[in-house]
Amino acid sequence: MNILVLGSGGREHAIVRALAASPKAERIFVAPGNGGSALGVVNIELDILDGNEVAQCADDYNVGLVVIGPEAPLVEGVADKVRAAGIKCFGPGAAGALIEGSKQFSKDLMFKYEIPTAEYAVFKDEAKALEYLKHHPAPIVVKADGLASGKGVTVAETNEQAAQAVRDCFAGQFGVAGSKVVIEEFMTGPECSLLAFVDGEHMLPMVPAQDHKRALEGDKGPNTGGMGAYSPVPIVSELEQREMIMLMQKTVDALVREGIDYVGVLYGGFMLTPTGPRVLEFNARFGDPETQVVLPLLKTDIIEVFEACAQGKLNKIELEWRDDWVVSVVLASAGYPGSYEKDKLIEGIEDAEALEGVSVFHAGTRRDADGKVYTNGGRVLNVTALGNSFEEARELAYKAADLISYEGKTLRRDIGERALRGRAAWDDEA
Ligand code: AMP
Ligand code: GLY
Repeated sequence: MNILVLGSGGREHAIVRALAASPKAERIFVAPGNGGSALGVVNIELDILDGNEVAQCADDYNVGLVVIGPEAPLVEGVADKVRAAGIKCFGPGAAGALIEGSKQFSKDLMFKYEIPTAEYAVFKDEAKALEYLKHHPAPIVVKADGLASGKGVTVAETNEQAAQAVRDCFAGQFGVAGSKVVIEEFMTGPECSLLAFVDGEHMLPMVPAQDHKRALEGDKGPNTGGMGAYSPVPIVSELEQREMIMLMQKTVDALVREGIDYVGVLYGGFMLTPTGPRVLEFNARFGDPETQVVLPLLKTDIIEVFEACAQGKLNKIELEWRDDWVVSVVLASAGYPGSYEKDKLIEGIEDAEALEGVSVFHAGTRRDADGKVYTNGGRVLNVTALGNSFEEARELAYKAADLISYEGKTLRRDIGERALRGRAAWDDEA
């Protein structure tokens, strides 16, 4: 079968690698792809937000399955158009993607179906939001309602920060995404991502993962798209894992009750609070960089899983997971998540990948006609290592990361370090 993947990040490269490992894969196309997906697969130019263009392209290339990586095309309803053209698609339609596209939609759904999350209030009016803040002092969380590339969330430590965040949203800092504002109770605890495959009715959970969102070591500095991740998560208890799976199931049941035919990945972002896991957010897609650590653990043929989702047959298969650990370290460009330079020659990727258990997923890279790879974004590479233990995977990831060089290479040296110290230490540091 020919497959078309939409997206250009490390997540998509990890998906492409998993697809390429399947005997069912014939040709794999990626739009727009990056310097990594150029290896053995075809990068194509395409407006991935235009559902008609995507469906036409899938038809032209005789594609049997379209896999949508990022949220923007999902929210635009690209999956609806692809399915309407009679082509199988992995990714929810516009109605399902609202679970990520509108914080209000997702909070209201959780409220209606009693899925634990932070208390909240929604405002369309700046004065009313500011008035509410007077009665709800910091710490408090202010979120733009719509998609804001992860930048629409302010965890305010002071009342003034909270008020400023509200004013910024209504002043249009996040475009239309900020025309509605959700103000939320501040929660505490470690964060954990649990992703699940969903076929419109059934769901199968993946292995939990943990992201590192802050730019600097010690979880300091600005929020980023993610500086590293690992899976499974050593500090999650069995009980917490069971509770998260139950809440994911409850959410899938809620979507069914709402009449939404949700096909794809449901991403649950949880906070492991002292009273149990509570939902921080839902995403309508694979996480980035969580995918880069979860998919290497999946033994089951991914095309089989995607097809089972697209055909409503997830209850007919079982997922098999490797009993290993994966740690992934992001190599970024100096300055990220602020402004940074591009077009730096990258060397050493082959040396890193020559180490057994190491995969280097490309994110912000491009490949020249002569095969040389250059930086082309803020997050450049995801150096990912699989090992028999958490410590082994972590050591191997850093050993591999040190073999790669380019001007401005930046990384966090403490990916996984806090988890290594155990849950008690984690809770003490909070
Ligand atoms: P979100 O995009 O909604 O996941 O928010 C981004 C980040 O903000 C999360 O990963 C948390 O670190 C933090 N955050 C969001 N909501 C809350 C909350 N209610 N309490 C504490 N931290 C939060
Ligand atoms: N790793 C966070 C996200 O994918 O939204």
